[in-house]
Amino acid sequence: MIKNAICEEYSMKVPVFAFTHSPDVVIAVSNAGGMGVLGASGMTPEEFDRAMQKITEACPGKSFGVDLILPNKYVGMEEGGLTLEALQKHIPQGHKDFLNHLLEDYEVSEIEDRQKADSLTSKAGSSVSLSGARALVNVAFNYPIKLLVNALGIFPAEFRERAHAQGIKIGALVGQVKHALKQKEAGVDIVIAQGYEAGGHTGDIANTVLVPQVVDAVAPIPVIMAGGVADGRQIAAAMALGAQGVWTGSVWLMTEESETHPVVKKKFAQATSADTLRSRSSTGKHARQLKSAWTDAWEDPKNPDPLPMPLHSLLISEAKQRIEEDALKGKKGATELVNYFIGQNVGMLTEERPAAEVLNKLVKEYETVMEKLGKTGSPSR
Ligand SMILES: Cc1cc2nc3c(=O)[nH]c(=O)nc-3n(C[C@H](O)[C@H](O)[C@H](O)COP(=O)(O)O)c2cc1C
Repeated sequence: MIKNAICEEYSMKVPVFAFTHSPDVVIAVSNAGGMGVLGASGMTPEEFDRAMQKITEACPGKSFGVDLILPNKYVGMEEGGLTLEALQKHIPQGHKDFLNHLLEDYEVSEIEDRQKADSLTSKAGSSVSLSGARALVNVAFNYPIKLLVNALGIFPAEFRERAHAQGIKIGALVGQVKHALKQKEAGVDIVIAQGYEAGGHTGDIANTVLVPQVVDAVAPIPVIMAGGVADGRQIAAAMALGAQGVWTGSVWLMTEESETHPVVKKKFAQATSADTLRSRSSTGKHARQLKSAWTDAWEDPKNPDPLPMPLHSLLISEAKQRIEEDALKGKKGATELVNYFIGQNVGMLTEERPAAEVLNKLVKEYETVMEKLGKTGSPSR
């Protein structure tokens, strides 16, 4: 019943897109009839290649996609990206001192896995740049992906042309009508309107207001709604707003297949919808995440402001790893600090389930709501 034009176009059974950094979630969702979309930013081309091989083997003939973060503005943009050493020189000593004091105050231990720390730091510096994105795109095009999406900006024409030559569609996340219009002009095939409630980088306009305006602005390009979907009633709402499907993120962080840090998973299960905020403290750009001692510290006006992309990720990457290592061991300070991106729908995410079960539940709830709406005009009667 939920099958529509998007399903035809992208060979899906249900118009539910699942953004995730966990290859096993992509596999589960794509095999269950939705489209898993792997967030590649933060991976080396080699790691990404291994993940794509795994997904391709586990999802024969199914639809899956890839997402990158290539913002319109970042430090080193003129050069297409700077080396790690050049980027490090842009990080002020005051920021390093503040971070060291924060870790001392919360008694966070020294790094355990030095090799992992160095690799994370290097990825933090390289993944948000044209040269970093190009290296990932070169890998993506070796696999039978259906969709290539940019989280934060407009892809260069070379990416779009290469994708279209291979029959791959291009999509982009937008949080404002003016950004949607720019993406339309740049030739995207699908627009993902992402509201204030969403987890990760997001703007400050709610979906109820954003989606209908984006739908009207970019017609006839299809729009799907991102943000706030944790049950089928919200899919019905998205469709009523003019979207042709939903793009989801947070809901997969609580699945059995997700690589979410176990302490963070526990925190998510206990959190309410009032426990998130948009903060620059994790990437340098506003991203919705769980409130914690980490966000409290960075939001405090007497402390330094987060740095622009990708300097902030570079600054904090080792600190975040130290916090995660300590939180795993149950250390108090790190447990207070540890957090992750999550949407306002966290208040609806109370238990861990297999990803396929989550997808089937979303669809069943949607169908029930639509049937009740048709019969009684109310989803609850
Ligand atoms: C942990 C996490 C990481 C995210 N990282 C990215 C990313 O790298 N690229 C991207 O396009 N969107 C990213 N997002 C946003 C998602 O693509 C999606 O739009 C959002 O999660 C939808 O809102 P929801 O969380 O309420 O489902 C991320 C979201 C979360 C929760």
